Amino acid sequence: MIAIDTLPEAQRYARAVESSKRVRWDIEKDVIRGRRFETAHKFLPDGLSLAAEFTTLSPRERRFVSQIQGRTYANIFGLVERFINAKVLELSHDHWFGDQVALEALVRFSDEELKHQALFRRIDAMIGDVLPSGYRFDVDANAVAHAVLGKSTWAVLALTLDIELFTLLHYTQSIAPDAELSEIFRDVFLYHWKEESQHAILDELELVRIDAELTADERDRAVDELIQLVAAVDGILKAQASADAGYFVATCGRPVNEAEAQAIDASFLRAYRWQYIHSGARHQRFGTVLSSLITDRQLQRIQAALVTLQ
Ligand SMILES: [Fe+2]
Ligand SMILES: [Fe+2]
Repeated sequence: MIAIDTLPEAQRYARAVESSKRVRWDIEKDVIRGRRFETAHKFLPDGLSLAAEFTTLSPRERRFVSQIQGRTYANIFGLVERFINAKVLELSHDHWFGDQVALEALVRFSDEELKHQALFRRIDAMIGDVLPSGYRFDVDANAVAHAVLGKSTWAVLALTLDIELFTLLHYTQSIAPDAELSEIFRDVFLYHWKEESQHAILDELELVRIDAELTADERDRAVDELIQLVAAVDGILKAQASADAGYFVATCGRPVNEAEAQAIDASFLRAYRWQYIHSGARHQRFGTVLSSLITDRQLQRIQAALVTLQ
């Protein structure tokens, strides 16, 4: 079989449409299937929750951490998919009177992201049914989308490529053998991955297309905007790590002193930075695509910014 990234551009859009039709799934019929979450299960696999980093916690408490992180996972995806979908709809405009297959690929991409947002709202509500009350996710998806879409398309697409590539890696993490991992969450990773695989290809095609229209100065500014966007994502992750650590401390059923509370907060932040920034940024494809578009010095600027988020 021919690797998809060696196909001519028009065929890559066509291949994305074909795959999108083949893998299409339904939230209730395929993913949820009448099941409920069980608190005896982990919601995120250890490789994503970084369970081993929560050194002061018992195995039961680490499982609770994975459940809190699972709820935040649903909310973060609901958040980023709001701006991704708006950007995809905007980009589709360029294809209205052009390649109708490329247009179909982006329309399907948009349709899938709307469905994913509905899936993640459903998952958030289902987790809310089984975990203690008091969980907060106070980030306004529309306000974030407005701020993100204020940046250049190049920067938004580069961030989007990072995001869609890390969903692929998250799936890989979730298939590791772990009898305690929730079967519903395993299916969330599996079904999301099936459709995100096409999105990552389309992000790349659109990024390369938009890149070709930029002057060197515009591209240089776009690199700075990408760094600003990653910093903004990090700001959201910091706030949510503190909210989730506070929720854990309030509901874990034992006293937690200040030093331990801070360590738990720091571990949540490390896990979230891994999940939502580094696991995509370190993806080989992300490096390959970026380095084909920007200079070594621009790449170093991005890498230097990422290093500060450890
Ligand atoms: Fe998605
Ligand atoms: Fe996506």
